[in-house]
Amino acid sequence: MDIRFLGHAAFTLSDGDTTVLIDPFLTGNPKAAIAAEDVPATTILLTHGHGDHIGDTVAIAKRTGAQVVAIVELANELGEEGVDVRDPNLGGTVKFDWGWVKLVPAWHTSTTPKGTVNTPAGMLINFKDTIVYHLGDTCLFSDLQLVGKRHPIDYALMCIGGHYTMDRVDAIEAAALVGAKTVIPCHYNTFPPIETDAHQFKSDVESATGSDVVVLDPGQVHAA
Ligand code: NI
Ligand code: MN
Repeated sequence: MDIRFLGHAAFTLSDGDTTVLIDPFLTGNPKAAIAAEDVPATTILLTHGHGDHIGDTVAIAKRTGAQVVAIVELANELGEEGVDVRDPNLGGTVKFDWGWVKLVPAWHTSTTPKGTVNTPAGMLINFKDTIVYHLGDTCLFSDLQLVGKRHPIDYALMCIGGHYTMDRVDAIEAAALVGAKTVIPCHYNTFPPIETDAHQFKSDVESATGSDVVVLDPGQVHAA
């Protein structure tokens, strides 16, 4: 499986056949690695409805026919726009032929650009038996440790930019709580308020925890 960082909090997980697209904010994203018209998607996953996560979801879902997984209030808004949705709530699991997705808590706020209030989530993804945990937008909180206790994590996709989420120093403790084999940082350097040093985060996490950190530039791929 390839994990491709598309900039900000957007990633694809792909084996060349199936592509899971997460938080596709591409149009208006100064760090976007691909255009919304070109990105592949079999399934789209949304951690929450802020504009920098919902992004181009409706256009991509309509072009590709991808089903979208989002928490129920957000899924309802997308369903009204003609998108094929799955609408779990926190703790719910949605199954696919490639694996499953479970919504877990994230501490944040969220209202969509159209005004729908929705509860933010993290997404625990089983992609053909590799477990990927996209933390969504969150601050540091102790229940992060429950996710990895329940399902040992191969890859944690972790926000580190601060201001809107935890910063890279709080994220060291988050990495310790999650206990992933590998952490890939995101949600930094897209805009001035979230500029940070991902390579410092890497050396701090690798000295303080058992996790490895892989820093990807937008467009770069990690072969999982
Ligand atoms: Ni947000
Ligand atoms: Mn965000």
